[in-house]
Amino acid sequence: MRIAHISDLHIIATPDAPGILRADTVARARALVADLSTFPDLDLVVITGDNVNDARAAEYAVLADVLAGLRVPYIILPGNHDDRAQLRALVPDRAYASADRLDHLWQQGLARVIVLDTLAEDEIGGRLSPAQLGWLAETLEQTFDDHTLIALHHPPCAPAMGRLDGNILIEGNAALRALLDRQPKPATLLCGHMHRPFTARFGKSTVHAATSTAFQFALALSAPDEPPTVAEPFHYTIHVLGADGSHVTHNRFPTL
Ligand SMILES: [Fe+2]
Repeated sequence: MRIAHISDLHIIATPDAPGILRADTVARARALVADLSTFPDLDLVVITGDNVNDARAAEYAVLADVLAGLRVPYIILPGNHDDRAQLRALVPDRAYASADRLDHLWQQGLARVIVLDTLAEDEIGGRLSPAQLGWLAETLEQTFDDHTLIALHHPPCAPAMGRLDGNILIEGNAALRALLDRQPKPATLLCGHMHRPFTARFGKSTVHAATSTAFQFALALSAPDEPPTVAEPFHYTIHVLGADGSHVTHNRFPTL
């Protein structure tokens, strides 16, 4: 089973005033979708939030058009730049766990992906409510012997990126870790938000954070403040999940 992980497309409707973003963010998102659509035998694309930049209706219209080019099933969740209601309207056909969040379960073959909506209104950091953690606990209790992945925008662990470390999952963090540590097998967490690729241990689970098509933060591990942005090659990750429990992670560097 092959699952691609991408994040932080930051679709903008006004490329003439991109701010910190690349001006060609939409073109790069379209090129990424084209690359994903031609990569052989992908089963799923997981998109971990910040799908648009300013939560405008015009941006979600562009996002819908971009994703219409994807010939692979996808799951998508909100980041701190998203509008929950507009994103839900874009993908209304999912079995959402509640009316006010986009938490849901995707399960096929060797994988189940538990999608968590960590968007907290008007905050950069993310939150998981007790109700969400309760739903997660119930979902994890369902018998499943293969690969469990958790998709969420905000990483639950600080990656040593200066002030940005304060903007991770700031509520529900310890409870999430405790729930996952009680599972018989380690889970894999797929995150975005940091605009920098890294891998981390979270209890007995593993965290993979994705890059962004819109901009990257520089690797500045001792920076006391926000790291500068930097032009580095974009890559996305493909998780190859085996029936024997094997899990191989590859990085692909498409020409965007
Ligand atoms: Fe982002």
